[in-house]
Amino acid sequence: MITETEIKKGLAGVVVDYTAVSKVNPDTNSLLYRGYPVQDLAAGKSFEEVALLLWNGELPSQIELTEFIATERAGRALDAGVKAAIDLLPLDCHPMDVGRTAVSVIGARHALANDSSREAELIKAKELFAAFPAVVAYDQRRRRGLDIVEPREDLDYSQNFLWMTFGEEAVPDVVDAFRVSMVLYAEHSFNASTFTARVITSTLSDLHSAVTGAIGALKGPLHGGANEAVMHTFHEIGIDKDESREDAAARAKAWMEDALAAKKKVMGFGHRVYKHGDSRVPTMKAALDRMIEHYGRHEMLGLYDGLEAAMDEAKGIKPNLDYPAGPTYHLMGFDTEMFTPLFIASRIVGWTAHIMEQRASNALIRPLSAYNGPEQRSF
Ligand code: SDX
Repeated sequence: MITETEIKKGLAGVVVDYTAVSKVNPDTNSLLYRGYPVQDLAAGKSFEEVALLLWNGELPSQIELTEFIATERAGRALDAGVKAAIDLLPLDCHPMDVGRTAVSVIGARHALANDSSREAELIKAKELFAAFPAVVAYDQRRRRGLDIVEPREDLDYSQNFLWMTFGEEAVPDVVDAFRVSMVLYAEHSFNASTFTARVITSTLSDLHSAVTGAIGALKGPLHGGANEAVMHTFHEIGIDKDESREDAAARAKAWMEDALAAKKKVMGFGHRVYKHGDSRVPTMKAALDRMIEHYGRHEMLGLYDGLEAAMDEAKGIKPNLDYPAGPTYHLMGFDTEMFTPLFIASRIVGWTAHIMEQRASNALIRPLSAYNGPEQRSF
């Protein structure tokens, strides 16, 4: 008989398996990707290098990196079949549904769809890595009535992502802030979407099914959807106002007091694992600060700092990565509903690394439940 105390709702605090992909340590407030502190990787490695590290367990040699870059750059163009599928979707559907559909279509048409060898999985992972930015870029442009911008092979991953989205070359500072966000979003152990991918993989289903399921999990505002929700919060409080930082902070605090009084969750704050702040926030906040400086939007700092201070004072709850990431993407010019698809583009790496790890040492994931329905009866 299972007792009430044995139930761990939300699997909170439950260790279900080993992983060598990353280590989230709330005691030291740190995050290691295959043993490397994420701050070090964000400071000095390209997103392409970090992807190879997460997939293979080691940073790439120059030859490995050169080969991957060539493959990635050759695989960036939006497939005509995927574009046709996206064009069937209404302009007012959520971009996460476009991302989910695109991956599903890619999988349904893939020659290696049901080849689960590590070699085939790595090929499929690298193809998704290369192909997904064009899905996000095309979706934002079609919603704005703009023509598609073809990828350029003379640009790196981040430069090209911004080129395809905005049709112009971004300045180095903006490209680097984008790269930092991709590195920080790439992997975070058994978060809800990654665990979803592992559950699907554990039945011996295919990689694209696992990634499609993970996208469904990431969409929710308690998880990846929070970066979009943070920007909705900023708009609700009111940005673009010509006011002192103190006045902006006061408005943010008043908004928070109403939200908490209404028992609402303030998006971008709190975390299931980190309880004294998210290890990635300082690095992402530094990138946001650079964007605020670059675009001269200092009034946003009043809102940002004001809400953070108010949440700390009222609930002792700290920001998570989504809190600085949302405003950063806003300043870069991404539409608010495109923020979580940007999270997909990055987390494809973590999801596929975990899919390969699950497959290499698999056990069907099937927990128990305690029955609390009617006792046995007859009709
Ligand atoms: C991501 O898991 C990962 O690693 C995820 C992620 C990754 O990289 O993959 O880090 C990415 O998803 C970050 C989280 C993004 N989500 C949000 O910003 C949504 C807002 N956050 C909350 O919903 C919440 O903090 C969670 C869901 C993130 C975590 O919640 P828990 O661990 O289930 O804790 P809880 O909801 O039970 O909260 C404990 C208490 C509650 O108060 P009481 O009811 O006990 O009085 O803290 C309160 C909560 O009400 N609380 C909040 C709050 N977060 C917690 N109150 C207001 N606003 C919040 N944001």
